[in-house]
Parts: sequence; structure tokens; C-alpha cells
Amino acid sequence: MGTVPITPIRSVETVSFYADAALPIICYNSLYKELGLDMEPGKHSYMAEGTALLRAAHQVLDADPKILEDPLALTLLGANTQELVEADLERQQSVYLRNARTFAVMRSRYVDDELSAALEREVKQYVILGAGLDTTPYRASHASHELATFEVDHPDTQRWKLEKLDQAGIRIPANLRHVAIDFEEQSLAEGLAASGFDTDVPSFFSWLGVTYYLTPDSVFDTFRFVSKMPPASQITFDFTLADSELDAAGLEGYAMVARHLEKHGEPWLARFAPGKLAEDLRALGFGEVSYFSQEMAWERYLKDRTDGLSLNPMMQLMSAIV
Ligand SMILES: C[S@@+](CC[C@H](N)C(=O)[O-])C[C@H]1O[C@@H](n2cnc3c(N)ncnc32)[C@H](O)[C@@H]1O
Repeated sequence: MGTVPITPIRSVETVSFYADAALPIICYNSLYKELGLDMEPGKHSYMAEGTALLRAAHQVLDADPKILEDPLALTLLGANTQELVEADLERQQSVYLRNARTFAVMRSRYVDDELSAALEREVKQYVILGAGLDTTPYRASHASHELATFEVDHPDTQRWKLEKLDQAGIRIPANLRHVAIDFEEQSLAEGLAASGFDTDVPSFFSWLGVTYYLTPDSVFDTFRFVSKMPPASQITFDFTLADSELDAAGLEGYAMVARHLEKHGEPWLARFAPGKLAEDLRALGFGEVSYFSQEMAWERYLKDRTDGLSLNPMMQLMSAIV
């Protein structure tokens, strides 16, 4: 395998990486205001909006071929999004935002690829947990599949997304259901059942940008639910590294990021060590657990790129198949 140009976790360079990291998180705020996006506290997930903006910026700023072809990310955020991203070039090309953008688009691309493989295994339902402004169900490549699709999200964020879809004139496909659930308060099983989800049918679950905001117990409630689905069912998700995986510099960097996340009311509550997590998933009954390491991500999506995109070492991906 080639050398992966990530900021190494066990290195003092991590400190400057995270020092850079703190600033652009704050900068999102002012960019949102410029974009005319709704920032009223409590109305919708602040990070759902930020992630959508990263996918939109990738369409505008990064080299072809894109890691993720997602023109709807721009449409959904509003007509002048491209113009505003281009006017914000210096900030968008800061180390932190380039790393965050790379992971945001790569994890969605990884889900696209895993879902394509799952369709070959006769998976018939697709559940997007904590969907935010994910555009997968509205993209032509997915609309063509007879795949019963369920977008699950917090009621406040989902209401906001439905308004955004309406404003952007994006049609809701007939195979898509919106399921409003607060993961900390309501059971996924009940919410899905009420929306016509069939627990006897092999299903694919994507869970991006969510596990870290939940308690570990709540994360494992969802893993347990998926582990009881029929064989061939899959969950693909991202997670952040536990303290045990970080050295002093990484811990210091994490503390810096954590302060900013807490300030915005979306602290990271669950973090994991990949080996232990894979072991726990196998113990739940998943037959195949795949840790998609940063080395694998580099080989598959990044090494031939001409724009020098690279990864944030805290962010990790894993898939588990029943
Ligand atoms: C960082 S966003 C990620 C959105 C989307 N998956 C993406 O990749 O763009 C986190 C998402 O998790 C949802 N979320 C956070 N806490 C939640 C909870 N307790 N119940 C339901 N959804 C929650 C938010 O509403 C938001 O849509």
C-alpha cells in the first residue's frame, strides 16, 4: 500500500492540525448566515447543515472525477450556494475544511458502494439513520431501484429538510418514507414499523455522522436492532476514535474540538476503539464485520486524485453484515 498522507495521530503535528480545526467550526456560523440558511437554535441539526455544505463545496472546488457526484447537495442548500462557496475560497480550502470535506464525501461514497454490493445480495430495504440533508434517495441512480427507502431523523431536522426539498422543487420519490424519531427517546423498531418497514426483509442501514452524538447505550440499541434483521442485512456507519487510540497530542486536539462541539450543543458522547467495536459487533451476532481503515480509503478513493484531498485521523468507517 502507498503512503497515506493523513495527519498522523501519534505525532506532534496533530496539535497544529487540531489548532486549525477549531477555527473553521466557528467560521461555519458566518458562512451559514451568508448563505441565508436558517440558524434558529433548536430547529434543526447544526452539523447536518455543515455536512451538506461540505458535500456542496466538493462539487464546486475539487477536481474531477468527484469522490461523490452529488449536484443535488447544491440545489438543496439554495440557488446561490455555488457562488457563495466560490466567494469563500480561502476558508473553504483551509486544512480543516479540506479534511472534513474529504471525509464527508468519502463516507457517502463508501455507503453508495456498499449499498450497490448489498443490492447484489438481494437487500430490498434501505434505511438512512440520521439522514440530515443526504440526497441519496433523490438521485437518479437510486430512484431507478425498486428499493423501499426510509429516511429516519430527529423530527426538527426532518421538518426542516422537507421544507428545503419543497423550496428546491425536489420531488419525493414514491419509494421513500420519512420517519421522525429521536433516537434517545423513541425506539427505532416502533418508528420504522409505523412507516411500513418489514423486519423480515433483508435491509441496508446507513448511519453517517450520528454515532458520536449519541450515548454508547443508544448506539448499541441500534446495532442490536440491525443484528436481529434477516441474514444479508448490513449497517455501514462512521465513528470517532476513543481516547485509548490517541496519544497526548491527539488527546489535546480532541479536547479542543470537543469544546467547540459542546458550545454548539452537539457534543461527541460515544467514541470507540476499532478492534473492540468489531469484537462487540461480532458478539451481537454480525457474521462479517469490516473495518474500512484510512489506508483502505486512501487506496480506493484518494491516491490517484490531483487535488491532494486527505483525511482527518479521528474519523473512521465500519460495516457489519448479519
Ligand atoms: C452530522 S448530521 C449527519 C447527517 C447526514 N447523515 C449526513 O451525513 O449528512 C447528524 C444527524 O443526526 C441526527 N441526530 C442527532 N441526534 C439525533 C437523535 N437523538 N435522534 C435522531 N436523530 C439525531 C441529526 O438530526 C442530523 O440529521
